[in-house]
Amino acid sequence: MTYCDLVIRNARIATSSDVFRGDIGIRRERISVIAEELPQGRMEIDAGGSLVTPGGVDSHCHIEQLSAGGLMNADTFESATRAALLGGTTTVIPFAAQHVGMSLRKVVEDYHALAERGAMADYAFHMILADPRPEVLREELPGLVRDGHGSLKCFLTYDRIRLHDEQFLDVLLAARTHGCMVCVHAENHGMIDWMGRRLVDRGYTRPVHHAVSHPRLAEEEAINRAISLAALIDQPLMIFHVSTKEGLGVIRRWQGDGQKVFGETCTHYLTMTREALDRPGIEGGMWVCSPPLREESDRQALWQGLATGVLATISSDHAPYRMDETGKLAAGPEPTFKQMANGMGGLGMRMPVLFDAMVSRGGMDVRDFVRLTAAEPARIYGLGERKGSIAIGKDADLVIWDEEREIRLTHEHVDDNTGYNPYAGRLVKGWPAMVIRRGEVVVGQGELKAAAGSGRFLARGGGSAARSSGGIAAEFDTKRNFGADLYRE
Ligand code: URP
Ligand code: ZN
Ligand code: ZN
Repeated sequence: MTYCDLVIRNARIATSSDVFRGDIGIRRERISVIAEELPQGRMEIDAGGSLVTPGGVDSHCHIEQLSAGGLMNADTFESATRAALLGGTTTVIPFAAQHVGMSLRKVVEDYHALAERGAMADYAFHMILADPRPEVLREELPGLVRDGHGSLKCFLTYDRIRLHDEQFLDVLLAARTHGCMVCVHAENHGMIDWMGRRLVDRGYTRPVHHAVSHPRLAEEEAINRAISLAALIDQPLMIFHVSTKEGLGVIRRWQGDGQKVFGETCTHYLTMTREALDRPGIEGGMWVCSPPLREESDRQALWQGLATGVLATISSDHAPYRMDETGKLAAGPEPTFKQMANGMGGLGMRMPVLFDAMVSRGGMDVRDFVRLTAAEPARIYGLGERKGSIAIGKDADLVIWDEEREIRLTHEHVDDNTGYNPYAGRLVKGWPAMVIRRGEVVVGQGELKAAAGSGRFLARGGGSAARSSGGIAAEFDTKRNFGADLYRE
């Protein structure tokens, strides 16, 4: 009798801890058996000795989202997750973005409707809290966490959506109370605003001046402040898109002191520098993102931060805006950097660009590649029981790699709606030959076979990463001295 729906034979299976040869048997969407030689399945795929990794988990991407400046980004759930699957990412965590005055519950319902209609990859949402008024934190947040939205993001910069420290403390306490992971965009708003105005006043308006307007100190200060606030509440924290060696150093020091803080960096900070912004005319605008691209020494430091475990995940921070009047040029054909939407695409490029850097060029090990692109993002955000690994019982989300395939990336190699490829010009070795989502071949021979709306919502709790660690001794003393009610909502 045939037991498996699908058997993938002759695979070099990579997990975050091992690489071994074997066959993978899939039954009812999950991995049900891994063995040296499996009996015939109903369907068979011969991997021919190729590397097979878990499907990527991109834990930070903006899809069909309204920016702080009120601009809709270029992708729908369909176009973004099409690019994700073609690039080997089978799970995404985009945002359900609240703006001031909105009901968080309604925001989440609206993003659900969009994703249900379009998503091809499986998905969860981080809730963006831009207006943490008491009724949102007391009446909406607890139910949303119970419904499987176990993480949220706050911004310490950007007009209209940023939180003041007092508001951020309220959010941290509510998150701790309900077991929710907190992620933060940590840059000092005052420094950026002040610098930006002075630059524009003096005529320094080009894309490269965007990088000058986000001083490295703005990241260092805000990361330190965000972690200090989280330490006061004893709430774990994820620092999104770390871009500088100083920011990394702050995280390392707090981790050394026993604070439960995680760090994320993004494909672009690992592979590009500020020079990209310094192209003639408006062209550098393609790489205007926040925090900005930095220096070669930062790039090197971030790789070290990944190797030593200070940074836990690599996301795309896919924030797609076209180089036209719908996106980066919404304010006119020659906007100042202050008028330009922040962000670049990358959801479909993350896995191939990182496979090339880490595996093909030997920058790290394929186990590290799996850890940073799939296993850790899944674990930290409460998806580890189903996603991010090749093991019995996990969803059969797999990528079979063509390790020898070399591609010179161009603007045509982009499957999302951005219309340009931030990685154009780069030669990458290694490409997803086949992508399998819950046991179904969704990409093969370069063709997409998934239907819009076939992605599934992944309800999840905050996960073990969101659980408080016992905190820092000094803060514990305060709590004992003043009684627990000080730290109760
Ligand atoms: O420039 C970026 N990253 N835009 C998206 C919003 C954010 O801060 O992540
Ligand atoms: Zn951010
Ligand atoms: Zn982002």
